[in-house]
Amino acid sequence: MADLTTKFLGVEVKNPVGVTSCDYGGVERLVRRVAEQGIGWIIAKTVHKIDGPHRWPRPFFYSLRHFGNDLKDSWVGTQMFHNMPYEKWLDEELPKCLKTAKEFDVLFIGSCSGIGADHETWIPFLKDMEERGVPMIELDTGGPHATFGAVDAHKNVGAPLALDPATAAKVTKACVEAVKIPIIFKTTPQCVNTAQVALAIREAGGQAISGNNAFYATWIDHEACTFYGVPASGGASMGRGWQMFSLAKILETTCTVPDMPFIGGGGCYTYDDLARHLMIGCDLVGMCSAIYSRGVGVLSKSITGLNDWMDRKGFKTIKDIPDLRKDYMYLRDWKREGPYMQEITPIVPEFDDEKCNRCGLCETICPYGAITLDKQAGTKPTFDRELCYGCGRCVGDCPTWAVKMIKHDTGEIIWDGRGVIKDWVTDKEGY
Ligand SMILES: Cc1cc2nc3c(=O)[nH]c(=O)nc-3n(C[C@H](O)[C@H](O)[C@H](O)COP(=O)(O)O)c2cc1C
Repeated sequence: MADLTTKFLGVEVKNPVGVTSCDYGGVERLVRRVAEQGIGWIIAKTVHKIDGPHRWPRPFFYSLRHFGNDLKDSWVGTQMFHNMPYEKWLDEELPKCLKTAKEFDVLFIGSCSGIGADHETWIPFLKDMEERGVPMIELDTGGPHATFGAVDAHKNVGAPLALDPATAAKVTKACVEAVKIPIIFKTTPQCVNTAQVALAIREAGGQAISGNNAFYATWIDHEACTFYGVPASGGASMGRGWQMFSLAKILETTCTVPDMPFIGGGGCYTYDDLARHLMIGCDLVGMCSAIYSRGVGVLSKSITGLNDWMDRKGFKTIKDIPDLRKDYMYLRDWKREGPYMQEITPIVPEFDDEKCNRCGLCETICPYGAITLDKQAGTKPTFDRELCYGCGRCVGDCPTWAVKMIKHDTGEIIWDGRGVIKDWVTDKEGY
């Protein structure tokens, strides 16, 4: 069994897998439910004083499972912030949460939201939590429910703060100076200049960054010809598919400020999702909506899977997991074929006669109509080099791994559908 222990902001954590801010960190009973699954850390449900306690329009979760299997993990939600009066949470619930977290050796991280750019409004929460023994606090700066300043009453809530580097720096600095415990700035995927925000947070003295928060979204019930759930946009859980976008956003930060501790998450549903995050500079990695759509057992299952993966790969400790950030680059710097694309592709597909099950998917999906499968003859697919663009789509889609991309002239394999394509551009002109 691999050793999953790690350190975050100087604190020992029994494993890097945890639960990002949501109901599960809101009350002791739910903290216990997820702590029992073996997590290493949890972030509390965000507390606030905006408009008093939020009881939310009930019901507040609108699963999209009925709209197609590809949406089974996706949903829209209209809950927002903690639903308990702040003082009640602070005096009654927080001490119980801290006690239970300690019982299970789980790092408990606070979470709060002031009113946007008004830095003074964040500080009382920090002081209250520090006084009660919360070891570090996340600023929920990127909530999905903000209206981007269109409506006066909403303009200072959530995302606007995390979209502007100067405002993010101002609030971070005020918070860092107000307390002795570390401050973690949570980013939003709705931010287009993530790297600038990351630099601003570091400059302001923020001790760590986390991301990503949820999106906002809406849905239409096409049979009822109405909105679905709520006639507005709510917080959106995009399911596992959005992980690829979230990973790219995370890399914007972890490559820009590689020295800063980072809590990653966004679309994690399985052990390999966790592994991906640990390879791109995340010190901790969190799950959230997966627990809602798959149950609390998804946590222990993923932790076990992560352990098995480490054993399989020979990684004895978290530090042995490779850091892929050194290979990450701007796509425009990727070596290209030359100053122009050759008219006839030098890279072509090769079909493995034995592995091919003659399903014809490659013929169906080839964007350029270059592949033909003669089902009557029962032979493997063929392609027309005049039509083929050498795009590689057939490699990634083949269900039996029967296609590879090779150099037409030499037969050298360029990509077999695993890992990164080979750096093959070495023609005489040195392109
Ligand atoms: C039901 C629910 C409640 C959430 N509440 C909060 C919150 O109070 N504060 C916060 O910072 N993020 C909150 N989030 C965002 C999550 O912590 C997480 O950043 C986001 O959902 C992306 O991760 P995921 O794809 O694993 O769900 C909430 C998410 C969900 C699904």
